[in-house]
Amino acid sequence: MELIIVDDYESLSRAAADWLVEAIREQPEAAIVAATGATPMGMYIELAQRRFRDRIDTSQLRVFQLDAYLGLAPDDPRALFRWTRRSFIQPLGITQANVVRLAGDAPDPWEACRAYDAAAREVGGFDISILGLGPNGHLGFNEPPSPPDAPTRVVDLTPESIVSNACYWGSEEQVPRQALTCGMDLLLAARRTLLLVSGAHKHQILHRAVEGPQTPEVPASYLQLASTVTVLADRAAWQGM
Ligand code: GLP
Repeated sequence: MELIIVDDYESLSRAAADWLVEAIREQPEAAIVAATGATPMGMYIELAQRRFRDRIDTSQLRVFQLDAYLGLAPDDPRALFRWTRRSFIQPLGITQANVVRLAGDAPDPWEACRAYDAAAREVGGFDISILGLGPNGHLGFNEPPSPPDAPTRVVDLTPESIVSNACYWGSEEQVPRQALTCGMDLLLAARRTLLLVSGAHKHQILHRAVEGPQTPEVPASYLQLASTVTVLADRAAWQGM
């Protein structure tokens, strides 16, 4: 696990964009799973600006949705697919045919999870995983406790996640109580991972993730065992102030 500490959120976003541009140059047909949440948004804006300037070929990239609220249509304002499309898929010009959605609105959401796993297996797993860190140590919506072999599945959100996600949608009532998440097994098998962590409120959980014991209570702690992981954090997150 490589740990990089940068001064602030702007530096984090630039460094993250550098990391991804390099990874895409090495592997233009990479299968990418990309997080929503506040943390990667600066990186995605930076990437959108660089796409034409730096002539980044995104035409062959394949994008997998990381997580989805149960029961929301893809165009619901709260749908995480809509967020991924607006912030990552469209600005990078990724074609619809190269996008795999985690269908939270499917009549049988468990079947949707199996279909997603099958699609990921078909491309040989993820080449690149871009993740944020939940305040309770979750990855995607792999809520604690999540063992490292947890598959893509339907989960109950923890009260902590409902509170932390309320800031995106205005109130806790707006946050669905269940979600679909890409499994721990797929995330930990990604060939390279970038974990982005920003802000003093992530200080304790960041240290538990990178230095603490590997435990289902901190799902991100299993990244310590994963193949090529870069943790990019700002000083506020690392030092807690
Ligand atoms: C959310 C999402 C995750 C995200 C994480 C951190 O609940 N399910 O995919 O990475 O929590 O979000 P943020 O970056 O806003 O702190």
